[in-house]
Amino acid sequence: MASPAPLQTDSQERPSTVLGGLEPSERCERALLDLPAAERWFRLLRFGREEDLYTGQQPLEGRTGPRIRIRGRPYLSLSSYDYLGLIGHPEVEEAAIAAIRRYGPGSGGVRLLTGTNELHCALERELAQFMGSEAALVLGSGYTANLVVVPALVGPRDVIIADALAHRSLLDAARLSRARLRRCRHNDPAALDRALAEEAATPRRLVIVDGVYSMEGDIAPLPDILAVCRRHRAFLLVDEAHALGTIGPTGRGTAAHFGIDPGEVDVWTGSLSKALGAQGGYVAGSARLITYLQHEGAPYVFSGALCPASTAAALEGLSVIRREPLRLERMRLRAAQLRSGLRRSGHALSEWPTPIVPLLVGHEMEAYRLARQLFTAGVLATAVTHPAVPAGRARLRLCATAAHSARDISEGVAAIATWSRP
Ligand SMILES: Cc1ncc(COP(=O)(O)O)c(C=O)c1O
Repeated sequence: MASPAPLQTDSQERPSTVLGGLEPSERCERALLDLPAAERWFRLLRFGREEDLYTGQQPLEGRTGPRIRIRGRPYLSLSSYDYLGLIGHPEVEEAAIAAIRRYGPGSGGVRLLTGTNELHCALERELAQFMGSEAALVLGSGYTANLVVVPALVGPRDVIIADALAHRSLLDAARLSRARLRRCRHNDPAALDRALAEEAATPRRLVIVDGVYSMEGDIAPLPDILAVCRRHRAFLLVDEAHALGTIGPTGRGTAAHFGIDPGEVDVWTGSLSKALGAQGGYVAGSARLITYLQHEGAPYVFSGALCPASTAAALEGLSVIRREPLRLERMRLRAAQLRSGLRRSGHALSEWPTPIVPLLVGHEMEAYRLARQLFTAGVLATAVTHPAVPAGRARLRLCATAAHSARDISEGVAAIATWSRP
């Protein structure tokens, strides 16, 4: 693969893309951003620029996929969420284009007033059916799906027990609810059992977990978590953002993976922007829950409805998942190839049947260095650092997709093999 020239730094001539305003100015923003968080970011970003380590926010010239272009140069992409390779699927794109022609680019309102169209209703029916739930609602993002649910179900007198690695959107939803937030050791039902026992006197107890953890690629032990929740009469919310389309025999998510009736879980949330290759979020559960959330869930009531193109793309994406089961097969083959290739080069990786392959690096700077080294060699692989992962556990978050060829994965593995751990 041709090696692209290193990314130009801000001091050189280049399109103004990322990292503006790193130097403090005397303008009023200075006081506005006189904050410890801003200071930390600007210090880190200046260092990243000086050392030429920042590879974030690269502007793709076209669709995502295994082979992308950035500033006229080809790259192999190894960190996309498009797990089933649906972005670029001709029928998904046709559906999105047809939806814009029929319904326009925007929905023109919030769902409760004038924003609902037939596509929303069709997608909600299909999603509920696919998830094995009575009903579903869709809205602007997976992030807001969690904000719809949590504050509508618990309040200041209640407690939320969140897995230690639960997604940021779940934690933000918990904070918004003003319920007390407790964290529980990752994927540890015994720790959850103890926490719930201590909360026996709290009126409502909501447990929140991810089905598939986006930075670890592991799966929540749902049967054990469910048993603990049942024993303590606690409610359970599972976020399926990275599980929908990727686990279970036909991609129906965590319940299907474990052979559990989805109705056993109180609330499912998820994203339309990962395996479905579209944009948006959903909540699935009982018909009564969904009706309640349609009227009490603030982001559903007060934010514009999901746009027609995304709704149609997700609807068609679901249909492709049903009629092209080989995509899931191919994604799994590529993930297994990626894992085994990295193991052969000496990397320790756990065995999970998910497309997410975290390459643990440890120190943040080393993760940035590795990402830069790969980028220079023509591979885009995302470095993930604190706070997205615990401090000292920085990593490259690699993803195998159904769109990767065996050669793509071999090239990625070979590029990573040139890295020598300091
Ligand atoms: C577990 C989890 N939930 C929710 C989200 C947010 O989804 P969206 O990108 O659709 O807002 C993500 C995003 O990566 C996620 O990993």
